[in-house]
Amino acid sequence: MRIVHTPEALQAVGMEWRRQGLKVALVPTMGYYHEGHASLIRYARSVADKVIVSLFVNPAQFGPNEDLEAYPRDLERDSALVRELGGDLLYAPDPAGMYASDHATWVEVPALAGTLCGVSRPIHFRGVCTVVMKLFMLAQPSLAVFGEKDWQQLAIIRKMVADLNVSVEIVGRPIVREADGLALSSRNVYLTAGERAQAPQLRKSLEMAARLAADGERDAAVIVGAVRAYLTAHLPAGEEDYIAVVDPASLVRVERLEGDALCALAFRLGKARLIDNILLKVEG
Ligand code: PAF
Repeated sequence: MRIVHTPEALQAVGMEWRRQGLKVALVPTMGYYHEGHASLIRYARSVADKVIVSLFVNPAQFGPNEDLEAYPRDLERDSALVRELGGDLLYAPDPAGMYASDHATWVEVPALAGTLCGVSRPIHFRGVCTVVMKLFMLAQPSLAVFGEKDWQQLAIIRKMVADLNVSVEIVGRPIVREADGLALSSRNVYLTAGERAQAPQLRKSLEMAARLAADGERDAAVIVGAVRAYLTAHLPAGEEDYIAVVDPASLVRVERLEGDALCALAFRLGKARLIDNILLKVEG
C-alpha cells in the first residue's frame, strides 16, 4: 500500500488508474478508524480494482466552537488497518495542502444543508461538499463509499453529484453498531462511562419509532413526540438537538407517513454530539 500526502501525488495516481480503465473506489474518511470504517473499506475492496482511502480531518467542516483540535487522530494505527484491509493507496494530506491560503471556492447544497444537523452546524455541509468534490477531482474514482449514519451527508452528496453531473457512483453502507446498539463513531471516545451507559437509548428510541410506524402510526408528530418522551425518561444526560421525521431523499419534514420516511436525531451527551437514524417502513 502506498501513502501519499500531496494533492498532486493523489491526482497523478488517480489519472493513471483512470487511463488504465481500472475501477477505482474512494472511501473518504477523517480517520480514527472503527469497524464502521472497516466495513466501508471492505466493501470498496470487494467491488473495485483499486481502493483509495482518504484520511483528512477537514477543518472546513468544523465550526469555530467545535472539536477540530480535539478530534481523535492515530495515523499509524489507521494506516496499518487500511493496509490490512487491502487498500491500495492512503491519502493523508495536510490542511495547507488541501486549502491554499487564498482558497475561495465552495460547493453548497443549501436546500438540504439548512435542516437537521445544518441548523446547529451552519457551515458543516459546505465544508463536506467542498472537500468531497476536491477528493473526487483528485482521485477520479468510479465510486465513493459513505456510511449511512450521517444520512444527511449522504443525501447531500447524492444531490451534489446529480446536480453537477459528476460521474461518481455514490454508495451508502449500513450503520455498524456496538452489541448494545450504539452506532459506532470516532466521537464515542468523548463519552464518560455514565454517558456511554445511557447512549444506546438513542437506538432504542429509534426502534420504537420504527415499531410505531410498522403498527400503523402515520402521524409524524406522534412518532417524534414518542421518541422525545422516551429519551426524556431514559437519556437524562442527553440534550436534544433535533428529532425529526423526513423524506429520505429531500430531507423535507413529513407530516403524514405516506411512503418510507427517515426518523433522524442528534443529541449532545457531555462532550459528544451523537447522531443516528432509522428508516420507517410504510407498506403499500
Ligand atoms: O463523514 C466523514 O467522515 C466526513 O464528513 C468526510 C465525508 C470524510 C468529509 O470530510
